[in-house]
Amino acid sequence: MRMIDLIEKKQMGQALTQDEIQYIVTNFTNETIPNYQMAAFMMSVYFQGMSKEEAGWLTMAMAESGDQMDLSAIEGVKVDKHSTGGVGDTTTIILAPLVAACGVPVAKMSGRGLGHTGGTIDKLEAIPGFHTEVPVEDFIKLVNKNKLAVVGQTGNLTPADKKMYALRDVTSTVQSIPLIASSIMSKKIAAGADAIVLDVKVGDGAFMKNVDQARELAQTMVSIGQVVGRQVLAVISDMSQPLGRAVGNALEIQEAIDTLKGHGPQDLTDLCLVLGSQMLIAAGAADNLEVGKAMLQAKIDDGSALAKFKDFVQAQGGNPAVADDPSLLPQAKYKIEVPAPQAGYVTDWVAHDIGVAANLLGAGRNTLDDVIDPAVGLMVQAKIGDYVDQGQSLATIYADREQVDDVIEKILAAVTLGEAVKQPTLIIDTIG
Ligand code: URA
Ligand code: CA
Repeated sequence: MRMIDLIEKKQMGQALTQDEIQYIVTNFTNETIPNYQMAAFMMSVYFQGMSKEEAGWLTMAMAESGDQMDLSAIEGVKVDKHSTGGVGDTTTIILAPLVAACGVPVAKMSGRGLGHTGGTIDKLEAIPGFHTEVPVEDFIKLVNKNKLAVVGQTGNLTPADKKMYALRDVTSTVQSIPLIASSIMSKKIAAGADAIVLDVKVGDGAFMKNVDQARELAQTMVSIGQVVGRQVLAVISDMSQPLGRAVGNALEIQEAIDTLKGHGPQDLTDLCLVLGSQMLIAAGAADNLEVGKAMLQAKIDDGSALAKFKDFVQAQGGNPAVADDPSLLPQAKYKIEVPAPQAGYVTDWVAHDIGVAANLLGAGRNTLDDVIDPAVGLMVQAKIGDYVDQGQSLATIYADREQVDDVIEKILAAVTLGEAVKQPTLIIDTIG
C-alpha cells in the first residue's frame, strides 16, 4: 500500500477500506508516514468526510494505537461520560457519586484543564489530600469496593490521537466532524468504556458554535458506537453561558456538594439528572429518562448520593468533612463584587470570556507547567433572563490579589444588559 494512493482516493471522495485506515494509523503512529502526508490526508477528510464505517474503523485503529485499559475485572457495565468541554462544567463530580449510588460502576479517567475550560482532575485536587494518581490495580479495587473512582490518565493511551491532534492544530483540520468524533471516541474506548454518554455543548463557550454542527457530531459518535459495538447516547446542551454559577476549582467543588445535597443551581441539577439518566439507561439500570431521573432524585433526597461522595473522597485520600464544612476547602483572600453599570436584563454572557476571566485570577493554565490556585474563580450572580438593578452584583470575584481591574473589565465586556429575554433552553436534544 502507498500513502499517496490513499490520499488520492480520499481526495476523490471514495471510501477507504478497514485495512487502508489501519495502515494509515499504524504507520503514522510509528512515524513511517510523515506529517506532510498525514496532513494532506486529513485535509482530504476535512473536505470529503467519512462514512460511518470509516469513522468507526478510524476510531478503533486509534484506540488500539497504544495502551488500552482492561477494566474486565470490574463487575457490571462500565459507563463513561464525556463532555466536549465548557465553562464551569462541574457535572462529572456530581454524576460520578450520583450514578454510583444507583449501583452502576463509574471508573473514570479525567483530564486536566488547558485554556479556558477547567479539568475535573484539577477540581478534585482542590479537596485537601485528594489524590488522582492511582495505579491501575488500585483503581479497579476502588471501583469494585465503592462503585466509583476518578483518576488522572495513566499509560500511553491513544498516541495516534495525540499526534493527529497536534498536526490538526497547525493545519486547520481541527473542525472536521469525523476527525473530532473519532478522536473523542478512541480515547473513551481505550479507557475501557463499555458504554458512553456524551454531553455535546453548543454555544460561544464550546467547540461547536451552532446546533446543527452539534447534532451532526453527536449523530456521528452514536453511529461510530454502532460500528464498534458500544452503546452511545448523547445530550446536546447549551453553553451560551457558564453552567451553574461557579467557575473555579474549589468553588465548583462546593457547587457540586450543594447539588448532591439537592440545592444546587437549577441548570446544573437538570443537566446532571438527564446525563445521569442516560448513564443508567446505557448501563441497563433504567428503561427511560423519567425512570432514570426518579432514581437519581431519590438518591439525592435520601442522602445516599452525598454519602457516596464522602466515601469516594475518603477512598482517594481527601478529607470527607469538606462535604459538611465548606471552610475546609481552599479560601480566597479577597471577595470582590462586580456591580452592574446600569439596570436591565442579562441578555448574554460570553461564556468563553468568563473562562478567561477565571484564568486571569489563576484558576486555570495557559501552559502545561502553570500552577493552579484552587481557591480563586468567580460566581456568576445573574444569569441570562435575570433582572439586575444598577449597582447590583453581576458576579463575585474570588481572588488572591486585591487589584482585579483586569478581571472586572473582562467580566463587564462579557455581559450584555438589555430588554427582557427568555432563559436559553438548556437541554436542546437527546440522541441515541
Ligand atoms: N476534543 C477531542 O478530544 N478531540 C477533538 O478532536 C476535538 C475535541
Ligand atoms: Ca453567550
